[in-house]
Amino acid sequence: MIDEIKKEIEGARRSFVNELAQIQSPEELAALKERYLSRKKGRVSLLMARLKEFAAAEKPLAGQAINQFKESIEEALAAAADRHGRAEAREWRDHSLPASDLPAGRFHLIADIQRQIEELFLSLGYEIAVGPEVELEDYNFTKLNVPEFHPARDEQDTFFLDGFDDMLLRTHTSPMQVRYMLAHQPPFKIISPGKAFRKDDPDATHSPCFHQVEGLLVDRGIHFSHLKGTLEAFCRAFYGPDVVLRFRPGYFPFTEPSAEVDISCFLCSGKDANCRVCKGNGWLEILGSGMVHPQVLRNCGIDPEIYSGFAFGMGIERVAMVKYGVPDLRLLYENDLRLLGQFG
Ligand code: PHE
Repeated sequence: MIDEIKKEIEGARRSFVNELAQIQSPEELAALKERYLSRKKGRVSLLMARLKEFAAAEKPLAGQAINQFKESIEEALAAAADRHGRAEAREWRDHSLPASDLPAGRFHLIADIQRQIEELFLSLGYEIAVGPEVELEDYNFTKLNVPEFHPARDEQDTFFLDGFDDMLLRTHTSPMQVRYMLAHQPPFKIISPGKAFRKDDPDATHSPCFHQVEGLLVDRGIHFSHLKGTLEAFCRAFYGPDVVLRFRPGYFPFTEPSAEVDISCFLCSGKDANCRVCKGNGWLEILGSGMVHPQVLRNCGIDPEIYSGFAFGMGIERVAMVKYGVPDLRLLYENDLRLLGQFG
């Protein structure tokens, strides 16, 4: 009797092993499991049902043999399910595909350029000093050697604050020179990035709100060559090692002498009459600069007989237009992701 059941178990085991070897899919695997382990009609249950035919003495032995068979089937099925699962995962996980596109934020072009400029001057040992956008008329104009009657005020006609006629939205970042000099004695070197405001109608090159980076260095024995060397180092790092600088005489009430600075066109070096960056001109105007006017030093409590310094101011929008070929300044404020997504 017991031998008979053992033979049957052995036959069932053989057919199970055969069927298992032919399994192709999770569905077939489930069907196999059903055929062998289903409570009602599974082969294991059918074997179990035979137990009642056994004499009491043989029952436990037969039961044990069937149970061992059942356990070995369960193990084999679990291992097969695991193999199939992993094979399936391999099939649909194609590691050569590009990663799914998580929308990541990035800096706006203006912020990005500002940070690049900051990085460069920090590497030259400058400190960053940030001033307020609402400024005293005294700091924005008067202490910068632009007295009330001065025509330069007209050029920077601006927004005054209702009820505070000595306060305005600063027309440039230069008042930060005043703030810093009033609070510190030389030597120092700072840059001061931020927003500035002018009563300009928006067009391709003007905006009532724009961004500047101011630079100021004051120490003993500072002269024009320090200004040239500094701007040259900056421009070569920022625009490319072959860039040439051109200093044109300029006028700012708070610097003397003053210079407008151009760089040679980094795209065509002046060789392309139809260059989209310089329009064939060969030069790009990028900033205003000069030696700090002795009167400005005096206004800020610094003795011009002992100290001298240089200052410069560049427009960040201007840098964006020049360096990245942005043709219209207004594009920078429209927040069109097709444009902004190209930078930063
Ligand atoms: N503040 C000037 C402007 O806005 C630029 C400038 C800064 C010029 C510092 C000279 C020195 O046009």
